[in-house]
Amino acid sequence: MLEKKHVTVFVTGGIAVYKAADLVRKFIKAGAEVRVAMTESATQFVQPLTFQILSRNEVYTNTFDEKEPENVSHIHLADWTELAVIVPATANIIGKMANGIADDMVSTTLMATTAPRLIVPAMNQNMLENPATQANLVKLEGYGYTIMEPDTGFLAEGYEGKGRMPEPEKIVEAAHQLVLSRAVDLPLENKNIIISAGGTIERIDPVRYITNDSSGKMGHRLAEAARDLGANVTLVTASKLEHPFGMNVVPVQSAREMQSAIMDKFETADIVIMAAAVSDYRPKTQADKKMKKAHQDIQILLEENPDILATMGQQKTHQFLIGFAAETNDVEMYAKDKLKRKNADMVVANDVSKEHAGFNKDTNEVIIYQPDQEPIHINTNTKAEIAKEILYTAMNSIKL
Ligand code: C5P
Repeated sequence: MLEKKHVTVFVTGGIAVYKAADLVRKFIKAGAEVRVAMTESATQFVQPLTFQILSRNEVYTNTFDEKEPENVSHIHLADWTELAVIVPATANIIGKMANGIADDMVSTTLMATTAPRLIVPAMNQNMLENPATQANLVKLEGYGYTIMEPDTGFLAEGYEGKGRMPEPEKIVEAAHQLVLSRAVDLPLENKNIIISAGGTIERIDPVRYITNDSSGKMGHRLAEAARDLGANVTLVTASKLEHPFGMNVVPVQSAREMQSAIMDKFETADIVIMAAAVSDYRPKTQADKKMKKAHQDIQILLEENPDILATMGQQKTHQFLIGFAAETNDVEMYAKDKLKRKNADMVVANDVSKEHAGFNKDTNEVIIYQPDQEPIHINTNTKAEIAKEILYTAMNSIKL
């Protein structure tokens, strides 16, 4: 949802300016294009250069510093902006925005933009509770702007109170929700999608386990793509990758934990995508203390894990089930067999022996198999693009 979005971060002068630098980084990581405008007092806390390097764009600080003769810079920035994030928002900028004052780069641009605004107040508790600030916030809410609740915690003044800037992750989440609420074309809106990712971990003892080479990248990219199409996503992940924003993430380790997390949500799911590499076996017993060297051969007896996809295949009522087949040979034969045996509606097959496909890579190349349909080949592309293709193919089959 934030992919390629034009986000302008308006930084005003509070001690939390340093946290805004991390926020810019997080927006960039989420795929947004970021520009930064700072008030004079914000530049007293952190140099514009920091924001310039992080956003890879020149920072706007002065309304009269017209860099391009063909553009009026604050109007140009206002028109470019698709989401305005005011962070940290001081009592001063809140007062200006609420009362139509435009006297510097930040306030004139905010006056001129028509983009949705996310205001993140951060200030001393008494300033926040001042009736003027409270009245201004009510006014801004009335204008349709989104205001984030400040956190309570240790303030710069050295005591506990309300007024802390929320952590950057929470702000990215709020920005995503705001963009989502304004989006017009969300083909997966109100659809519940469960996606599993990563290689499960089957413990031998507290420090050792059996796992496989799956990184979880394909599953995480699928979850992000489904989120951006408006779905309610539950990502059940055994991967060590960073948790994506804008979805319900359930971290798990073993196949049985994964199964229980998935089955909890199965009844209300519309689509389930099993991108996880589920371990077929687990140690029959798990030592509760670290096993000691025995100076002789030891045997670890393995017992079979539940087949999560096959179980869902037996129980499904309306759910569209997508499985994955990571193979090193006879891809078509194994994929078609899985489709039947697990009663799945789609199997996405890849040849993990290929250079650009499979475990741990950022790219993939897949063939989509569906009952009674010709296979669909999707050429080598990033996992994010492949994820979109898989979802569009599924939506086409479900007739969404
Ligand atoms: O059985 P196999 O591993 O070949 O099938 C792969 C597909 O089945 C994947 O979608 C995988 O997530 C799923 N699977 C499962 N439970 C297992 C093994 C695999 O859901 N125990």
